[in-house]
Amino acid sequence: MFSLTSWHLLSSLVFSFLILQARCHDPKIETYIVYMGNHPKEMHVAELLHTSLVKKVLGRNFAPEALLHSYKKSFNAFAVRLTQEQAERMAEMDGVISVFQSKTHKPQTTRSWDFIGFPQEVNRSSLESDVIVGVIDTGIWPESDSFNDHGFSSPPKNWKGSCQNITCNNKIIGAKYFRVDGSFGKDDIISPRDSEGHGTHTASTVAGNWVNSASLFGLGKGTARGGVPSARIAVYKSCWSSGCETADILAAFDEAIFDGVDILSVSLGFKSVVYHDFFQDMFAIGAFHAMKKGILTSISGNNFGPELSTMTSFAPWSLSVAASTIDRKYSTKIQLGNGRVFEGVSMNTFDLHNKTYPLIYSGDAPNITGGFNSSRARLCLGNSLDESKVKGKIVLCDEFPSDATRLSGAVGVVLPTATYPKDAASFFVFPLPLAVLTLNDGITIHSYLNSTSNPTVAIYKTNEGKDSLAPYVASFSSRGPNMITPNILKPDIAAPGVDIIAAWPSITPISPVKGDKRLSKFNIIFGTSMACPHATAAAAYVKSFHPTWSPAAIKSALMTTATPMSPALNPEAEFAYGAGQINPIKAVSPGLVYDISESDYVRFLCGQGYNRTSLGSITDEEVNCKKIENETVWDLNLPSFALKRNISVSFFSVFHRTVTNVGAAKSVYKAKVIVPRSLLTIQVTPSVLSFSSVGEKKSFTVTIEGTINMEIVSASLIWDDGNSQVKSPIVVYSSAQ
Ligand SMILES: *[C@@H]1O[C@H](CO)[C@@H](O)[C@H](O)[C@H]1NC(C)=O
Ligand SMILES: *[C@@H]1O[C@H](CO)[C@@H](O)[C@H](O)[C@H]1NC(C)=O
Ligand SMILES: *[C@@H]1O[C@H](CO)[C@@H](O)[C@H](O)[C@H]1NC(C)=O
Ligand SMILES: *[C@@H]1O[C@H](CO)[C@@H](O)[C@H](O)[C@H]1NC(C)=O
Ligand SMILES: *[C@@H]1O[C@H](CO)[C@@H](O)[C@H](O)[C@H]1NC(C)=O
Ligand SMILES: *[C@@H]1O[C@H](CO)[C@@H](O)[C@H](O)[C@H]1NC(C)=O
Ligand SMILES: *[C@@H]1O[C@H](CO)[C@@H](O)[C@H](O)[C@H]1NC(C)=O
Ligand SMILES: *[C@@H]1O[C@H](CO)[C@@H](O)[C@H](O)[C@H]1NC(C)=O
Ligand SMILES: *[C@@H]1O[C@H](CO)[C@@H](O)[C@H](O)[C@H]1NC(C)=O
Repeated sequence: MFSLTSWHLLSSLVFSFLILQARCHDPKIETYIVYMGNHPKEMHVAELLHTSLVKKVLGRNFAPEALLHSYKKSFNAFAVRLTQEQAERMAEMDGVISVFQSKTHKPQTTRSWDFIGFPQEVNRSSLESDVIVGVIDTGIWPESDSFNDHGFSSPPKNWKGSCQNITCNNKIIGAKYFRVDGSFGKDDIISPRDSEGHGTHTASTVAGNWVNSASLFGLGKGTARGGVPSARIAVYKSCWSSGCETADILAAFDEAIFDGVDILSVSLGFKSVVYHDFFQDMFAIGAFHAMKKGILTSISGNNFGPELSTMTSFAPWSLSVAASTIDRKYSTKIQLGNGRVFEGVSMNTFDLHNKTYPLIYSGDAPNITGGFNSSRARLCLGNSLDESKVKGKIVLCDEFPSDATRLSGAVGVVLPTATYPKDAASFFVFPLPLAVLTLNDGITIHSYLNSTSNPTVAIYKTNEGKDSLAPYVASFSSRGPNMITPNILKPDIAAPGVDIIAAWPSITPISPVKGDKRLSKFNIIFGTSMACPHATAAAAYVKSFHPTWSPAAIKSALMTTATPMSPALNPEAEFAYGAGQINPIKAVSPGLVYDISESDYVRFLCGQGYNRTSLGSITDEEVNCKKIENETVWDLNLPSFALKRNISVSFFSVFHRTVTNVGAAKSVYKAKVIVPRSLLTIQVTPSVLSFSSVGEKKSFTVTIEGTINMEIVSASLIWDDGNSQVKSPIVVYSSAQ
């Protein structure tokens, strides 16, 4: 479970040291997911089938409780306790598409909407209140003002969802929790109620009501609002104090699709950089079955940037979202006794009224009686400081203090460090005044310490300024390329995900740092988890104007109208931001869309080496992989083009695309290509597309020819009718990536 703060990072580091070395001789029994494709026509048959498969594999060892859960509402799968050897045998069984271990994953506003050009007073569709957004996360805090239902009519007619434990209202029209193995931690609230905060934050970012004068102790003050405040929310809680289990996430998808949500928002991701095949990846499986029912899944791209190849969401039927900055920049100033001022970062909610305090270096104050020497005290470990030296002072630490309750009476912390990215102030939340500085500033402060016998410092409350460089992609946001299908671009799009304010449970401290007791109805946090609900809301906004559009058409509208981002600020270019930053208003009128049907995806999967046997059970369409063997991955009708090629080897590649006219009936689009000519030649044929009706389709080819001599070459194709500019990113990159 996750709101990405340094504390989580630190504790996961700590845990990695605790991995047991001992080898177990008993074969380990773990929870596996056995995936079998389409949901069965009759649900009770599924359970019988699942039981009989488990019996076959377990033989004499069969016990009914081994079968933890049957997924049968929206797809066919089950969760079962097996040894690795049994899992391997299970994979051989008839009808089984894939078997993979259930693991623990992590869940990864106000100003942000204005910043992307989506003001409060935008035109809204009268159908917005028919849009139901499913949020798979840590649950929800139903009493938050963001979720009251004043002025809402009753839920849309075909809605099948319901609420467990909490009472539904006309805003939160569904709320369920999932824990297929039935194990709960002592801090878990066994209900869809959110005790972590992450799910409340993401749900309110998508569809929270307008709430005036929201702030985090005065920071981020403004009207908090979701992107589609009239939309309905259905909550599927899959995350608990121990994290989010694969088996529980799949159960949420199974239920949400069946209940009838319109869009799914999944701010969760794998715990590490892993490259899973589509049918070994529960996010891809869930999103595939959602797509079959016309539901677009928006998913966070993960937080392992800025290195390349750190994305973990690859399925072309999902919308994978990167996190960008907004122009609101938080900074925290400190002033030394000699008058020098330094601008640091942090989310310091404490106002010390500009008072100066004595400053001491942690390394000069070891708790010797406690067995700490200077080289440990400098890290500001719990109890490592001598209370008689630091009490009432501000301490200069070389590492993040691990425990605010054992800082020996220090009143604040100044931390020079190069270890953490500084583009998200909410990375640094601490229950004492804190300012994080550069290592260079640290050197200056040390020489000041050396120069006086009476060093002092003041830490100011965090200040809101403007970041004129925004938007750029945050350093933590995972980067492409796509390690599963290299010739498909990921991420798809970028959305605000840095220092986002949104609703928070009133019982949950604003940070998980030990000793933090601050409560607030709003909190400021960061992550691709915060970017995902912005993209979800943009998709819901488009859907409210075009209720019949397919998931691929909505995704295309969002991508082709995205605001371009700067390759100068983001050297990884499209691998950082995909098509660019979401622009919901433009996305309502994209002019043309690149649509993709279920059978197109099946053909794509054939091209990926899946065969009739496995695909036959995930689709009702006729599957004949042989016939389309000569088609290439890059013929999937996406609004983006990616091509992986070796450096200095010349190539010639052809992409086939079809666009559908969703703009003016009579329109003539001309192709415009922007390309670094010295490297590539890109030809579009035909270069003019004339439409005479809405819904009309026209096909064209894009040939890309040349050699590349660098890692990433960016180009773009724009179809322009003078009114709409339908823009697609083109990326050619080297296989050195
Ligand atoms: C709202 O719609 C009207 C009519 O369609 C249009 O003239 C106006 O520019 C739109 N306003 C905004 C803010 O999009
Ligand atoms: C929610 O309902 C379930 C099932 O009825 C029950 O086991 C659980 O204790 C309830 N949770 C709370 C917090 O009341
Ligand atoms: C503290 O300092 C800031 C900026 O230096 C100033 O704007 C503010 O008025 C000061 N506050 C007090 C209480 O003196
Ligand atoms: C020093 O460390 C010991 C052992 O951790 C602890 O009990 C004691 O409170 C610490 N003393 C001070 C002055 O912080
Ligand atoms: C400080 O203490 C640690 C652990 O007790 C020890 O490994 C280290 O060598 C000590 N450093 C110095 C400079 O004494
Ligand atoms: C401050 O003094 C300490 C020891 O007296 C020395 O190790 C350190 O390098 C000095 N730092 C600076 C920045 O002058
Ligand atoms: C289909 O693929 C599976 C797994 O890769 C393989 O075991 C099977 O033999 C293939 N079937 C055909 C008809 O090629
Ligand atoms: C596949 O092969 C057939 C027959 O050779 C040809 O007509 C068709 O154009 C090819 N398709 C592609 C995408 O190259
Ligand atoms: C690219 O280089 C790799 C390794 O040198 C080679 O295996 C591969 O065939 C090359 N691909 C192309 C398209 O030339």
